[in-house]
Amino acid sequence: MFGFNYYTPTKVVFGKDTELKVADLIREFGGTKVLIHYGGGSVIRSGLMQRVTDTLDGAGIQYVMLGGAVPNPHLGLVYEGIELCRKEGIDFLLAVGGGSAIDSAKAIGYGVTNEGDVWDFYDRKRDVQACLPLGVILTLAATGSEMSDSSVITKEEGLVKRGYSSDHGRPKFAIMNPELTMTLPDYQTACGCTDIMMHTMERYFTNGGNMEITDSMAEGLLRTVKTNAQILAKDPKNYDARAEVMWAGSLAHNGLTGCGNDGGDWMTHMLEHEMGGLYDVAHGAGLAAIWGSWARYVYKNCLPRFKRYAINVMGVEPAGTDEEIALKGIEAMEDFYRSINMPTNMRELGISPTEEELKDMAHKCSVSVGGASGSARVLNEEDMLAIYRASM
Ligand code: NZQ
Ligand code: ZN
Repeated sequence: MFGFNYYTPTKVVFGKDTELKVADLIREFGGTKVLIHYGGGSVIRSGLMQRVTDTLDGAGIQYVMLGGAVPNPHLGLVYEGIELCRKEGIDFLLAVGGGSAIDSAKAIGYGVTNEGDVWDFYDRKRDVQACLPLGVILTLAATGSEMSDSSVITKEEGLVKRGYSSDHGRPKFAIMNPELTMTLPDYQTACGCTDIMMHTMERYFTNGGNMEITDSMAEGLLRTVKTNAQILAKDPKNYDARAEVMWAGSLAHNGLTGCGNDGGDWMTHMLEHEMGGLYDVAHGAGLAAIWGSWARYVYKNCLPRFKRYAINVMGVEPAGTDEEIALKGIEAMEDFYRSINMPTNMRELGISPTEEELKDMAHKCSVSVGGASGSARVLNEEDMLAIYRASM
């Protein structure tokens, strides 16, 4: 078991109608002029934005709006947001939407409060010293960005998708009303559940410092999301299932399931980021498509964890050799993906990269992790290419 820092400064306000508390929360954290940042318009179509602006108008809080954060959000809009904030004298950011709007807002917050090009941080050239205060109204349970220290941005030139993590970027508050996720297409709900589980699995399949209390919480979280994802596939308006998944999404990526271990493997995410950068696929679906190939490639190097996962999460009978049990767990996970209409390979994801593109993705992925990375098994460029090929 390793020592750890656990830092979750985000005030969570959870439940029905909580978006109506937004003005009070912005005031509480010192905001006087707000940039409301959102995506392609789902929050306008659902009526949420009207409720938010009515609440701000009622409280006399000034605001400027900037929409257009696309899934796999672009650097170009981040630059636009930085300029707008400077011009308007913005002192608070409010992201309304899913991970893309939140991540784009974090990047804008870094850009406004730090000198120079904001891409430098994503390019690992230097670290941020501050961020504009940020609040979130979450509409998609998935990335955990509402409590996490991460932000993932795509630079259009060269289609480079990179994450950056800093405690400065953790939101001041997160408003989570499970009802707001009921307008999601079923596909996005399933993508979200996949991402939530993967944030926990990345921290679970490790060879370093595992801790029983962390494992127990992780397994409980995984079983809960698995059950409720299947409920939502049939009954998307089920409030309790929406609520279970939404809270799990935050706990899966606020650091809780990493306490005591080596920080996690993260290679499924790194492999997916290249697919998302090049093909603009939904993050959760990309993870599901690559996970099985990754798992089969690494499980022998992390057998006790794969065996435990098979039994405690997927309910596999503890009979046979450890390898057999581990493989049954991987198969059961893929069956679960199919049960919620998630892909289990690139073909089902709807992409068919050429050999050259696979090589390019493997190369970019290895560069992004500094050559080689992973905890279940350390992967180099050659390994990454083998996993991409196996997922075709
Ligand atoms: O853009 P709008 O019109 O709002 O539509 C979005 C978008 O099309 C739609 N949507 C969101 N809430 C909705 C809704 N549609 C109807 N009703 C609602 N209530 O869903 C689509 C996807 O939204 P997006 O924000 O892109 O999804 P997600 O939350 O999955 O975010 C994905 C991005 O986050 C990054 C991913 O790589 C990807 O770029 N990640 C961020 C992380 C973090 N910051 O900690 C960690 C993750 O591992 C991940 O990498
Ligand atoms: Zn993720």
